[in-house]
Amino acid sequence: MKTLVSRRTFFHLAGAAGLIASPALIGCAERLAVPALKRDPFSLGVAAGEPSADGFVLWTRLAPDPLSQDPATPGGMTGGPVQVAYEIATDPQMRQIARKGTATAEPGFAWSVHAEIAGLQPGRPYWYRFLLGDAASRVGRVATTPAAGAALDRLKFGFVSCANYELGYFSAYRHLADENPDLVVFLGDYIYEDAKQRRGAIREHSDGATASTLSGYRNRYAQYRLDPDLQRLHAEVPALMTWDDHEVQNDYAGQWSQSFDEPAKFLERRAAAYRAYYEHMPLRPSRALPQGPNLRLHERFRFGDLAEFSVLDGRQYRSKEACYSRPNKGGGHIETADSCADLQDPTRSVLGPQQEAWLYDGFSRATARWNVIAQDQLVAELKERQKDGTIGYWTEDWNGYPPSRKRLLTEIRDRKLANPVVIGGDIHSFWTNDLKVDFDDPKSPIVATEFVCTSITSHGPPHDTFAAWLPDNPHVKFFESRKRGYSLVDLTRNRMTTHYRAVSEVTDPQATVSTLKSFVVESGKPGAQSA
Ligand SMILES: [Fe+2]
Repeated sequence: MKTLVSRRTFFHLAGAAGLIASPALIGCAERLAVPALKRDPFSLGVAAGEPSADGFVLWTRLAPDPLSQDPATPGGMTGGPVQVAYEIATDPQMRQIARKGTATAEPGFAWSVHAEIAGLQPGRPYWYRFLLGDAASRVGRVATTPAAGAALDRLKFGFVSCANYELGYFSAYRHLADENPDLVVFLGDYIYEDAKQRRGAIREHSDGATASTLSGYRNRYAQYRLDPDLQRLHAEVPALMTWDDHEVQNDYAGQWSQSFDEPAKFLERRAAAYRAYYEHMPLRPSRALPQGPNLRLHERFRFGDLAEFSVLDGRQYRSKEACYSRPNKGGGHIETADSCADLQDPTRSVLGPQQEAWLYDGFSRATARWNVIAQDQLVAELKERQKDGTIGYWTEDWNGYPPSRKRLLTEIRDRKLANPVVIGGDIHSFWTNDLKVDFDDPKSPIVATEFVCTSITSHGPPHDTFAAWLPDNPHVKFFESRKRGYSLVDLTRNRMTTHYRAVSEVTDPQATVSTLKSFVVESGKPGAQSA
């Protein structure tokens, strides 16, 4: 049964959750029928994403009991659809309202809200909040982009990956918010689906179980979104999103599970995981509304004449793991050129043929000064010398799909993509790499620059083992796996400066941050130089 939340309830909420009241809010809210809510429906905060020149998407999810263990009442909600009001203002005090409206929170999508906003002015900040009954969300900040082709002199953006809640506090997110970037790009492993499986855990996933059902994934996202540092980053910085494997299952590829599940069975799990991902992310429903096990994630985003981001999906359309049929080879493993013919199979792809065609077509039409390719994993070749002297390759990143990588880099070169920069994550370490069509030919020109961010909290790979491989990989300019943190980019017309920021200690919720290393890419000259 729907009732209005009483004004007394609102002030109780306001005291408990720091909510904001205003006469305008009360007047607006009373016209909306809302469920009786005893607790803050906006416990998971707010987020904005996918900015365009005239709008963006605004996100929240109604969750008065965010970690409800009852699958029938996700987030503590019951009943039918709910109309949630939003306000968009040109000032942080929400006095100059530029737009008001309502969006529907559907039960089938866990009462999440994805409000696509259009018709705003280009290239300016906006502030927003959601209203339900007498409750108001925190105020979030977002900005429209300059019109396509309009001059933009500077863009500051962060990129992040691999935040395992159990392995540390999200201080890196807090410090990134402190930097006040224009944009944050999440490159995957936003959650970890497993639980209690890793050494050094300092806090627990709330249900203590591996997420594999819709309810399980929903609760995992809800727990992460209750983290104050992550919640603040989303409220203050608009996001672009892509995923890696742990949003579904470690090392999955397309319909192929690490654990050799029947594809049809695994796709049911993938559908649950993708649906929960959509429910918690600022994704535009006009593109990204999930359909069963499918969700269109890849998209291009333009920031005036300065930058275009091609955000890629490295998981959904991926060919199965190299030599997957061999016992115990369902996930990443080492293969040599001699041991596994799949490594040279040109029909295998990280992106899938349709996404590849879409990407390369975009290269031909790109007009921005800088072109950022945002995806989940290490692209550069990494020769891993084994104890017997042979060279092995990790099958679970682009090294497991060499022809697919060669196509990507060849297309960048042949279509003359301006100032191409690849950003990635997944490997829990900082990397700066020269990308070449032929990594084995010292004369092969550098066609793009790669920056990989370390993890927010997840353990890094063994430093000394990886460092010993670097002489076989002269295109690697920097590697550091002993630090957790994020990357921050200051992009101008003439140069891209990338700072690797490292937090002092992930087990300390008050961890400090410092700059580990900075690199510069000059416009027109691929390859990074030490700053
Ligand atoms: Fe990861």
